[in-house]
Amino acid sequence: MSVDDDKYPGDSGRRRFVKGVVGGASLAGVGAVGSATVNSVTASGGSGGGTTQAMAIENTAGPAPRGMPQIPIEIDGDGAIRGVWPEVTSTTEQGVQVQVAEMDMGGQTYSSEWFQYCGVETYTGIQPGFEPEGGNYFHSGADPAYQWQADAMSGGDRFTVDLFSDYETWGNGIGVEGMGKPATGTWRSQGTEDVITIQLLRSPLIEELANSGSVRAPNGETYEADGDTQEWLQASTSQGFIAWLNKCTHFCCVPGFKENEGSARYDAENGVYCPCHQSVYVPFQIVSTVFTSRPRPD
Ligand code: FES
Repeated sequence: MSVDDDKYPGDSGRRRFVKGVVGGASLAGVGAVGSATVNSVTASGGSGGGTTQAMAIENTAGPAPRGMPQIPIEIDGDGAIRGVWPEVTSTTEQGVQVQVAEMDMGGQTYSSEWFQYCGVETYTGIQPGFEPEGGNYFHSGADPAYQWQADAMSGGDRFTVDLFSDYETWGNGIGVEGMGKPATGTWRSQGTEDVITIQLLRSPLIEELANSGSVRAPNGETYEADGDTQEWLQASTSQGFIAWLNKCTHFCCVPGFKENEGSARYDAENGVYCPCHQSVYVPFQIVSTVFTSRPRPD
């Protein structure tokens, strides 16, 4: 599967240069390894699971133990947006042959184990060899969190690039405009009883971070990506689109980017806020997290 086609065209020379400069500096996201002991886990009784390193949107406040894992993006020739599912291979674990979904991407090892927490490890869509009816495309849910999405899309529709053409100026009265245009949806859930909730965001900040490793945002913050993170962003985002599994790593609620007016009380009006216990995540700060993923029940 090709995932490095013209995502940020015309910028590779500059990218290489910036990487050399930024790569040596110790900036946000470098070595930010999250809590290593999170989920209680047993290594037996299922496949996969164990110590897992994942790229995540950073958790910056509240009780959540770590960031939420990214889902790498691909955009097809018609402008429809899907999540990359890692390559599936067979291997032997404890004498039993099991399937593993894992691949090298952007200097990282991207694995289905990134999503094995909060019970998602039992979902049909997270089984390595499962081929969902709707492919790996992201689909709009029946009850989206944003008015623009409710107006423009029906449940089950695919997301396409053109729906986000105003992403550089979009706002909804929560926080400042120009941080990006969000959507809520599902992934690898069509035709199953389990709903894998995702958040999709198209942001000029992600675009700039992938291209140059640094961006001054409309909220006055400067976000940085070191060389490794920039390499990962180049591979895992496309045209400013970024996605993550939208399950709070605290107690598994569904957070939202600019979804809740009350988030301003927690300085989260320009980020991702979980209303259950006020955890805050910043999708412009991508970090490497280490956690103990749970085994799949197969
Ligand atoms: S902060 Fe507790 S579930 Fe999100």
